[in-house]
Amino acid sequence: MSASLATELARTFGPHLEALCARTAHALEKSGFKALLVHSGSLLPVFEDDRTYAFEVHAPFKVWVPQAEAPDSFVYFAPGSRPRLVLNQPDDYWYKSAATPEGYWVRHFEIVSVPDLEAARAALPKDLSGCAYIGDEFPGLAAFGVAAANPRALIRRLDYARAAKTPYELSCLREASRLGAAGHVAAAEAFRAGATEFEIELAFLRGCGQREQELPYNPIIALNAMGAVLHYQVLQKAPPAERYSLLIDAGAEFAGYASDITRTYAADDADFAALIARMDGMQRALCDQVRAGVDWRDIHLKAHALTAEVLRDADLILCSPAEAVEAHVTSVFLPHGIGHLLGLEVHDVGGFMADAEGGEIGRPEGHPYLRLTRVLEPGFVVTMEPGIYFIDQLLKAARADSRAGLINWSRVSQLSRFGGIRIEDDLAVQAKGVENLTRDAFRSLAQG
Ligand code: GLY
Ligand code: MN
Ligand code: MN
Repeated sequence: MSASLATELARTFGPHLEALCARTAHALEKSGFKALLVHSGSLLPVFEDDRTYAFEVHAPFKVWVPQAEAPDSFVYFAPGSRPRLVLNQPDDYWYKSAATPEGYWVRHFEIVSVPDLEAARAALPKDLSGCAYIGDEFPGLAAFGVAAANPRALIRRLDYARAAKTPYELSCLREASRLGAAGHVAAAEAFRAGATEFEIELAFLRGCGQREQELPYNPIIALNAMGAVLHYQVLQKAPPAERYSLLIDAGAEFAGYASDITRTYAADDADFAALIARMDGMQRALCDQVRAGVDWRDIHLKAHALTAEVLRDADLILCSPAEAVEAHVTSVFLPHGIGHLLGLEVHDVGGFMADAEGGEIGRPEGHPYLRLTRVLEPGFVVTMEPGIYFIDQLLKAARADSRAGLINWSRVSQLSRFGGIRIEDDLAVQAKGVENLTRDAFRSLAQG
């Protein structure tokens, strides 16, 4: 971490925690609780073995403390007093237990180290009958005597507030983008040098300096036609016979906050390279639409209108762009949502909430995979990820219905070997305009 980032985090964590305490106190009061107990998460055992799956800390815990490796630990918060971290540090010689915390956030907490769950319970107030609990409902929880486990109304209020990031969180997200962009630069270099999917992932990991389980999601690294598999999870170790394209969707994490970045590259085909450039221009135009007060559903629908123009310019449709949208032809090529909230989770919570109390904002009809329907506010961080893909299943369906005559099938078969194109940036909505975390990160890397 650079000295300037360390200074920035030390300066902004206190106000972040103050804001978190204030909104949590409000949510507790509104939902009838006196205190909150948040669990970091359990180690999940692998069936019939004495191993566990890689630990994933729960987001409601890491919003308080950026401690990624602390299974069965707790944050206890009673409004009016300092939050308490009950850190589980078992005396274990099989595994290294959670590190003793250090750094910019530690002085803001009362920290108690315990060796097990029983001691964790003893480190909490005797009477938890007014306390709400959020986390895994592990076997010993009944003995804690909490008022309620995972009360929906409280979780909703806390989730709702998470969409707007504090300045501290924005610093973390900027750093996650910087690390992710460094991984992408290394991955692109590996692709140009002829690497396999697996080798490209290794380059990405090295570039961002993280192991796979530290990343916010498993990288999607797809050569050629595999770019059409939206969440492609295979990393081929053998090189393909021919190399046409790379679609890489991969992000890094910093202090619990994610980046989510996609780039697409042509190996050696001017026609496909031009289509990528066209998509890049369209993605930038969509980024320019992002500002506070804009309804994300309108951005999604605008993306379909612009996609139809790209399809026309690429000679992929035999009708007007307006007809292509009307007949759901654009959904054949762009079946996913145009973006989502980003933060402690790669697909962050609260995307459909009408307000803190209840009520959801529905998706536009015919767009079942959109993950965000809210009006943007300053502090929201969203992804912008238009794409066009040549997806067998969707093309087959379109060929069998009234859309068959609207699609230029010979052009589709010419381009199918490239899989698809997605370009994805992370955007922070400001009071005026927008900050493109991803493009800023690539630019500052290029400037050295
Ligand atoms: N990486 C998954 C997504 O872009 O939503
Ligand atoms: Mn992505
Ligand atoms: Mn995304």
